[in-house]
Amino acid sequence: MSTVDRTALARPLEFEYSGKTAKNRLFNAAMAEMLATWDEKDRTESGIPTEALINLYSRWAEGGWGTILTGNIQTQYLMLGNPGEMSLDPSYPFSGPRFEAFKRLARAGKSHGSLIIGQISHIGRKASAALIKEAVSASTLPMHSNNSGPNSNKKFTENVRAATKEDIETIVNGFVHAAVYLEKAGFDGVELHAAHGYLIAQFLSGATNKRTDEYGGSLQNRMRLLVEIGRGIRQNTSPGFVLGAKLNSVEFQKGGITPDEAQELCCVLQGEGLWFDFVELSGGNVEGLVSPDKVETAEKESTRNREAFFLDFAETIVPAMKQGAGEKRKTKVVLTGGIRSASGIVKALEVVDAVAMGRSATQAPSAAAQLISGEIEEVPTPAPPFDKDIGLGVVASTAQIGFISRGERPFDLADGEVAARFIEDLRKK
Ligand SMILES: Cc1cc2nc3c(=O)[nH]c(=O)nc-3n(C[C@H](O)[C@H](O)[C@H](O)COP(=O)(O)O)c2cc1C
Repeated sequence: MSTVDRTALARPLEFEYSGKTAKNRLFNAAMAEMLATWDEKDRTESGIPTEALINLYSRWAEGGWGTILTGNIQTQYLMLGNPGEMSLDPSYPFSGPRFEAFKRLARAGKSHGSLIIGQISHIGRKASAALIKEAVSASTLPMHSNNSGPNSNKKFTENVRAATKEDIETIVNGFVHAAVYLEKAGFDGVELHAAHGYLIAQFLSGATNKRTDEYGGSLQNRMRLLVEIGRGIRQNTSPGFVLGAKLNSVEFQKGGITPDEAQELCCVLQGEGLWFDFVELSGGNVEGLVSPDKVETAEKESTRNREAFFLDFAETIVPAMKQGAGEKRKTKVVLTGGIRSASGIVKALEVVDAVAMGRSATQAPSAAAQLISGEIEEVPTPAPPFDKDIGLGVVASTAQIGFISRGERPFDLADGEVAARFIEDLRKK
């Protein structure tokens, strides 16, 4: 019998600006599914949700998540991150097979009362050399992989252009079009991917933004792209559309985003005209997603002893997010990274409003319902090396997603033998 009081998990979450309400405090974190169409010769035929992808979201909808975030949807068809990612483009009309497929995806995600939020993104310099000859970023610094995950063998394009004013306009239009498109297709909202070294994060971070114009230098300038995108979306979607952003609460390196900067950024996003419904706090470095225990400078006992990777940083950010003198904070804060257990979630909810679970949601697609009902105390920790290595964890989760999308049970990564077999299979590939 459960020893943890789970009332806090089941409490509805009201997004105060849009007025939409999620049925509980658990988000299914954004995970690139790699299940959309892929046509190397005709990129306009790529990025369309497939039957498998729609099945996946039906399955997660059954799993009791209050809010379901999709994997990142690229906002320009020429700037695809990886084969199999969903994509949109300002040239795409609000009709036809792609639009119908996105409508079906939205319906699948909402089929059991979850909110469905499309994560919209631009890869910037995180572009594969095989797919993109010239990438666009804040500055000309190329990308280098530093993890063991799906990008470990990837060759990123060395040819990176600093975005011109015209590029920036195209980028903003791409995000705004994607938001309008998804609203028309029935999505409840969008989340801007502004973390893990993608284009918006490339602008936000002093480690990658070396510009000297109004988009570089001070934090206020580095956040200009994100603010313009947010404002454009607010002006072109209805008031009931949810707007959120995934941010690095910290980037563990010289010149990278600090918790103080993340705090300032969150305060701006809740301001006039932007009215972000939520910010999702993650972390990493300019090359992407990492867990703090992989990073020497972040080896703080307190963080390592708690399952939520970035809770320490949220503790400094959230109290500063006051709306104004005497007013209560309206922008909700969601915490992501490492979350697995009811007790861990209860602790996190003392600081933030909701939590998002990634790898645990591929190991246990119904974890939300099971944690809330008390059926499980926690999603079991993956067996080594998957317990510590987030890059390998992404590879395993992608494979589990394949199983779920086919209506099968995902393999059990907590079982040492299964984990060892998976590693063996990876070596053979
Ligand atoms: C298979 C996989 C794909 C991912 N794709 C995305 C993505 O498209 N967008 C994003 O913001 N984060 C992505 N992530 C990161 C997760 O959203 C999350 O931040 C990270 O896995 C840490 O949370 P966890 O410890 O609960 O897994 C991905 C993670 C996994 C495992």
